[in-house]
Amino acid sequence: MSEKPSNEKILEMLRSEPTEYVSGEALCEALRVSRSAIWKHIESLRSLGYTIEAFPHRGYRLVGCPDKLLSEELMWNLKTELIGRQVLSYDMVASTNDVAYDLGKKGAREGTVVVSEGQTKGKGRLGRSWVSPKGKGIYFSILLRPILPPQSIPKLTLLAALSVARAIRQITNLTPQIRWPNDLLLNGKKVSGILTEMSAEQDRVHFVVVGIGVNVNTTAEFLPKEGTSLKIETGSFISRIPLAQSLLEAFDTLYRDFKEGKTDEALEECRKLSAILGTHVTVEQVHGKKEGYAVDIDSEGALLLRFDDGVTERILSGDLVKLR
Ligand code: BTN
Repeated sequence: MSEKPSNEKILEMLRSEPTEYVSGEALCEALRVSRSAIWKHIESLRSLGYTIEAFPHRGYRLVGCPDKLLSEELMWNLKTELIGRQVLSYDMVASTNDVAYDLGKKGAREGTVVVSEGQTKGKGRLGRSWVSPKGKGIYFSILLRPILPPQSIPKLTLLAALSVARAIRQITNLTPQIRWPNDLLLNGKKVSGILTEMSAEQDRVHFVVVGIGVNVNTTAEFLPKEGTSLKIETGSFISRIPLAQSLLEAFDTLYRDFKEGKTDEALEECRKLSAILGTHVTVEQVHGKKEGYAVDIDSEGALLLRFDDGVTERILSGDLVKLR
């Protein structure tokens, strides 16, 4: 097992004594470093936004944490087995999916999460962009290495959408709908989207990057007209850390079940939350559009679309628009 990074260890010790001071000596002993090294770590934590009191002869006390998606914050008390056991946090990147994809190529471990406060070139599906204003939303990408054929990956995207739905419900009490396979809607407006990218051969996945964007405290000026945010829908500021943790925890469970082939209950929940089953839709894909009646989601997470001539097709991916 690798040692915890020093900042994380210091925070852990300070958090374990919320009302008391932790002496410099105790920190030095635990980390096996000098006093001046401890001081440097305290300064680096302060520069990340932590408020730490220093009192002569008594030590240090943590009095405030930043509402930033820092790895130290996300991993604190995160109840997962696999997802987020390694978190890399950034202030600004072009796209967390691109960073995670590069890490995937370099052999980074499964479950690694790349998170950023903002993105300059956030990517959406079908070549669109995902507006990612700094400090307002959750923008992260999860690296996975399932030993499965590429055909099973669309179901994974749907399960990621279900994780977002569960987390939003847990934190806000609002129940979002899933617009198969990867959009979350509140009052018919998009609050979250998922972009899954993978590196694969014909019958073997090398790795998958599940990129999730959630509009949390995003204001209308940043959103497209069909978009919304949790703040707009609830009327209140939502702290991003508990929401992000809840999402990672929900996905951790669903991903474990997915690998074990146990997805019946999750798919039933997706059907119940579906915004499109039983309606007429157009499906936009890379090579064109199709129109039909959304009959069901099958056991592999594919959409069953019935055309006017009665023929039913299994759709594995696409962007849906509800017609009537
Ligand atoms: C869509 O709805 O079209 C998908 C949006 C996906 C956005 C997320 S934000 C984090 C990750 N990084 C990206 O560049 N895109 C995804």
